[in-house]
Amino acid sequence: MNARTHRCGELRKEHVGQTVSVCGWMDTKRDRGGVVFILLRDISGKVQLTFAEEINPELVAKTRDARGEYVLRATGRVQARAQENVTTTMATGEVEIVVSALEVLNTAVTPAIEVRDDLKCDPELRLKHRFIDLRRRPMQAMLQARAAMIRSMRATLDEANFLEIETPILYKRTPEGARDFIVPSRAYRGQFYALPQSPQLFKQLCMVSGLDRYYQIARCFRDEDKRADRQPEFSQLDIEMSFVEREDVIALLEQVVPNFVRALQQDKRFADRDWPVLKCGELKAPFERMTYETAMRDYSIDRPDLRSRDLRLSDLTAWAKGCSFNAFKTAAASGGLVKALRCPGMAETFSRGQISNMERDAKGMGAGGLASLTVGVQHAAPLQGAIAKFFPEAEQRALVEACKAQSGDLVLICAHAKDKVVHAVMHHMRTMVAEKLGLLDPGKFALAWIVDFPLFEYKDDEEKLYASHHPFTLAQDMDLVRKMAEAARKGGEGSVIARLKAAGFTLEQVLGIRNNQYDLVLNGIEIAGGSIRMHRTDWQQDVFELVGITKAEAEKKFGFLMNALAHGAPPHGGIAMGLDRMLMLLLGLETIQDAMAFPKSATGRDLMIDTPNEVEDKLRKELGVSIHA
Ligand code: AMO
Repeated sequence: MNARTHRCGELRKEHVGQTVSVCGWMDTKRDRGGVVFILLRDISGKVQLTFAEEINPELVAKTRDARGEYVLRATGRVQARAQENVTTTMATGEVEIVVSALEVLNTAVTPAIEVRDDLKCDPELRLKHRFIDLRRRPMQAMLQARAAMIRSMRATLDEANFLEIETPILYKRTPEGARDFIVPSRAYRGQFYALPQSPQLFKQLCMVSGLDRYYQIARCFRDEDKRADRQPEFSQLDIEMSFVEREDVIALLEQVVPNFVRALQQDKRFADRDWPVLKCGELKAPFERMTYETAMRDYSIDRPDLRSRDLRLSDLTAWAKGCSFNAFKTAAASGGLVKALRCPGMAETFSRGQISNMERDAKGMGAGGLASLTVGVQHAAPLQGAIAKFFPEAEQRALVEACKAQSGDLVLICAHAKDKVVHAVMHHMRTMVAEKLGLLDPGKFALAWIVDFPLFEYKDDEEKLYASHHPFTLAQDMDLVRKMAEAARKGGEGSVIARLKAAGFTLEQVLGIRNNQYDLVLNGIEIAGGSIRMHRTDWQQDVFELVGITKAEAEKKFGFLMNALAHGAPPHGGIAMGLDRMLMLLLGLETIQDAMAFPKSATGRDLMIDTPNEVEDKLRKELGVSIHA
């Protein structure tokens, strides 16, 4: 049986006179004494059903039983609405169906949340009743956009000879930055699978297999601290290519992204949406490029929000070394960092309370405080503020000069022996000031590639080097890496870094090595990241050596990769884009949860199906798993 001839949202003037059948949910009902109007809703939109007492009294009686969210089937004739009843609030606003048969396909209990576009309620309530939440137009439109985006990605990649390949979900623990979710094995008691944080190693193995160009809409699992743009389970557009260099991967993404943006912009189903992607215009390749070094220098973050590109930070470390204020001087002299943010014309913008909140935030991030100075009219000593008195006139003028401040500006300064603390504080302040200046318009898209990242990160409390991307990323200078690895292997006592220093390498040299990573950043959010990989085992071993992964460990954890690389691995590289995160930005959604059908709550639970949950003792015994308090 074909229950319907049309979907609710499809009916237009051209259907007038036709007899049609539609199915859907009862959205609203108005009883105007003798005439009853029902709005019937399905995923395509809403249509008005009209029932007149004088034409069909039984039908009108039947509508009296119908309640919100009942599932109905209606048959009737499409009629043009009288001019005064035409509405532009829905696409079917010029017509109505004069119903001749009505069937209640199912009843419905009253839902816990209302099915309305502008629903405002506790987000957890929405998650708990997600199947109702997903009846709302903004959510259904999001899912349509998500599918349209994936369809466009597939079209672009299929056209470019990529092969869509699925990789295992029951995987193995590998070090990729986050914690793994693990799955106990029944067949191998006491042993565990891990869920993949990404298909990284499998896609590299695909290259070794000669599959040339791989992609997958891949589900990834990471047990990380929660953030508004993170989910424990999320999707990536995952790509890997053989015989390529950085520029090839970048060029591919510069096709993929504008193509799906255009697909969304041209899709008529989204005409009623006010999504940023529909206002941002064409995304033109090539996208902007910025080195990691510039990003850190100007914005103190490796994913700068370039909508506020002119709000740059200044490095005051050189000035601070010779200044008269002890806190700044000590930080600078101990190899630390002193940075300033010039807030244009904002001398009077923040209240005392707001400034002390900023100081509190800075302290919360580990800084001793946050200095705030305002620039007055240019008389002898231009600065005002609690600490201005510590700086003689000449120092004040040098400071103003160093951060190109002008009268009427506010200058915020943070100093600390650890660069990391200053970067965190200044990034936070820059974001806040940009927001205050109205520079963070979600309808503007600032896309940029960040390149030339350091190969290693150094954690001084552990005296240990880490791969700043993942340990499979190729260095720009493998000769230097080789020399360092040889020096580290020669041994001696202490950490890798101690051994390197003993061999004459400095920490700056080690941290100065750049890798072949590239991150795509949109409005301050990292939406994609990738790299050219090491395709030679000796190179891979060199990097493992330096990040302290021993041969035995490497063998145990990714012997399969090392073995595969030894079998003629082609030069290769790839990238992964966070699909949910990208969609969140394109549609201007507040959280990543609104960009997926069935997300986890802020605390990592699925509130609808109520999981994680306990399992029976019997099953635990079978798995050999016991719970310790
Ligand atoms: P990376 O770890 O940078 O790279 O991840 C790629 C992109 O995935 C998205 N992403 C997330 N989205 C939602 N929730 C999360 N918890 C989350 N974590 C990451 C981000 C990020 O840019 N295997 C490498 C890719 C490669 O080298 O080819 C990888 O996974 O948008």
